[in-house]
Amino acid sequence: MKVTVVGAGNVGATCADVIAFRQLADEVVLVDIRENFAEGKALDIYQTTSLMDVKTKISGSTNDYSKTANSDVIVITSGLPRKPGMTREELIGTNAGIVKSVAENALKYSPKAVIVVISNPMDTMTYLTLKSLGLPKNQVIGMGGILDSARFKGYLGLALNAPAADLQGTVIGGHGDTTMIPLTRLATVNGIPASQFLSADQLKQIAADTMVGGATLTKMLGTSAWYAPGAAGALLVESILRDQKRVMPCCVYLDGEYGQKDICLGVPVVIGRNGWEKIVDYKLTADEQEAFNKSADAVRSMNNVLKE
Ligand code: NAI
Repeated sequence: MKVTVVGAGNVGATCADVIAFRQLADEVVLVDIRENFAEGKALDIYQTTSLMDVKTKISGSTNDYSKTANSDVIVITSGLPRKPGMTREELIGTNAGIVKSVAENALKYSPKAVIVVISNPMDTMTYLTLKSLGLPKNQVIGMGGILDSARFKGYLGLALNAPAADLQGTVIGGHGDTTMIPLTRLATVNGIPASQFLSADQLKQIAADTMVGGATLTKMLGTSAWYAPGAAGALLVESILRDQKRVMPCCVYLDGEYGQKDICLGVPVVIGRNGWEKIVDYKLTADEQEAFNKSADAVRSMNNVLKE
């Protein structure tokens, strides 16, 4: 199995590192536009392989996509990240051109690869990739909800003083500070509703912290986060390569599901070898559906910016 990660910056290199470290693929290729940058990151990761007893092959390339030929998955992380005070949406102009050209180049050499879009604004970049390349809808998956859900579980874990890994929590909707929807109703601690341990006010605060979770880190770090985003990308890649059929909140094309059409938005989907296979219906309450519709309106107006 072969994975290409485009963009050898913070998120791309971390994602490649987790894929290699966990030996999810036989081969990982990192690509970047900056001369020698991907080669350098790949060499550094390669030099950890003897220390970690890892056998995955890893190499880098400056924009030579022939090295990526026959990839099973292409992860797109190329583009600008946020700076403190910026929204993800402000990145649209620059990142749209980058994401489209990267996807075109990579697909020339791996036409059947599942495309994982991470660059922001991710919901719009996923829609752009799908529409501009005319791909089958199941082949394109945006990664945002897995990260947002990890942040949700992280804040739940801090409030409960429990390991986040023991918690279940899902964030659907858009991958934006005001468009994501942490489903507090469905948050559980080893199967027991979190509402049995936390007050309604506490859960409300956890949802609010989750929604600005990325902005909080951007303020602390001076740029957007990378450890959890890279690991979230790798987890999605794992479910694809190993055909795990895990249910994960991902940004996919909706054709009437969850009451929305002609948009890519975060919903729970089954992830397997050929991409996303099936949308799972969580049967939203009226309030959750209203929030989902508002999220769709915001993402749709962002998509329309590209059509202007
Ligand atoms: P970064 O600046 O560290 O890395 C981006 C890399 O892309 C740079 O190395 C740059 O040289 C490269 N690049 C730019 N244009 C390129 C092109 N045409 N071809 C190949 N490479 C190119 O940024 P970072 O922190 O890695 O973030 C990457 C993207 O991921 C940003 O758009 C950020 O907003 C997004 N992001 C998305 C998340 C999500 O959950 N969907 C979470 C975190 C970040």
